[in-house]
Amino acid sequence: MKVTNLDERIHVLDNESNVTTVIKDIAMSGLQEDAFYVLDIGDIVQKHQIWKEKMPRVEPYYAVKCNDNLIVLEVLAALGTNFDCASKNEINKVLSLGVEPSRIIFANPAKPASHIRHAAAVGVDTMTVDNESELHKIKKLFPMAKIVLRIRCDAEVAQCQLGMKFGCDPIHEAPNLLRLAYNLGLNLVGFSFHVGSGCQDAPVFLRAIHHCKILFDMATELGFNPYLLDLGGGYPGNKGTSIDKISEIINEALDEYFNTDAVHVIAEPGRFYVASAFTLATSIHSKRAIRGEENTNAITHNMYYINDGVYGSFNCLLYDHQHVTPIPLKNGCGKLIPSSVWGPTCDGLDKIVENIMLHDLELGEWMIFENMGAYTLPVASPFNGFPVPKFHKIEDTCVYFKADLII
Ligand SMILES: Cc1ncc(COP(=O)(O)O)c(C=O)c1O
Repeated sequence: MKVTNLDERIHVLDNESNVTTVIKDIAMSGLQEDAFYVLDIGDIVQKHQIWKEKMPRVEPYYAVKCNDNLIVLEVLAALGTNFDCASKNEINKVLSLGVEPSRIIFANPAKPASHIRHAAAVGVDTMTVDNESELHKIKKLFPMAKIVLRIRCDAEVAQCQLGMKFGCDPIHEAPNLLRLAYNLGLNLVGFSFHVGSGCQDAPVFLRAIHHCKILFDMATELGFNPYLLDLGGGYPGNKGTSIDKISEIINEALDEYFNTDAVHVIAEPGRFYVASAFTLATSIHSKRAIRGEENTNAITHNMYYINDGVYGSFNCLLYDHQHVTPIPLKNGCGKLIPSSVWGPTCDGLDKIVENIMLHDLELGEWMIFENMGAYTLPVASPFNGFPVPKFHKIEDTCVYFKADLII
């Protein structure tokens, strides 16, 4: 099936088409010069199926910050996923889809006062806290809020550590915060943590859940009635990764420490849902061939300039510590040449790949980058006047069928 109308909201595909054929159709249409994304909605639906299968007890609250694209949010809302919002604007975006406020957790432990007032006004009443001052702030602005105390429990290896900024120490700080919440007459309903984004230390979930169990008991003794356990984010989402190990550890830890339906278990996955669903296509608009010694004319290095860079989608190299690999759209031939790939702006920092072996590529050829859905577009800017890439969304007929089963 050929993609003929580039303005269609969603392209419905037959079984012979896939992300690569769609990219080829669009890139070769003669109508496309700018970089663009293909969003594979079926990939998101499959991720949801995997989550439900691997962790049936854990209700996902998608972390909107990871990718706030409206189609993503609409699909997840239709699949029945709930949402983790970090701010007033994210809350509004999710509510605008018709999602009930009870399906949102305001999971930012440091919230501006006006955002708390807004959450109260629109009925988003569950929110995370990790310090004394936030407890006092909530007492003043939203005393009926359902408070989730966020503890710190860091993965030994993670793509982005978060513990240096958020999460109280579960042993030394949490008991004092519990007592303060009690004395202020606040409604503490549970505990949360975030082990770090892109976690590569599955057993950390066991340690964190164990800390929460101890705190659940402490809170109950104090007179609270905690019922919410929030496992945060950290689940990998790139092609070829899996949540098998993490889910095994989580399920065992839940069986051991929270073997009761009275505790509602949720998580805040971000990159798991969207990383692999977005493929970026960029075109080479300029090229510099570096030649060797004066009397040899051989090319020693090719520098390719493409139409998206670190101020756009590839901000993920700086902020999310991602590594990306360009895949030329056309199968190359001839010898491989050391190459580097650069973004379109005039900044020397705008380098995407330092050194990679590529066939000699021509101006106008396309480079594809997979796994570009997490922490890319929400941060991208049109610096130097280069636009942030647009989307083409694809859906295959078979996914409609599968989606019907889930909704
Ligand atoms: C509070 C909170 N929850 C969830 C997430 C999503 O994490 P991940 O994308 O690793 O699943 C983040 C990411 O920074 C976060 O700050």
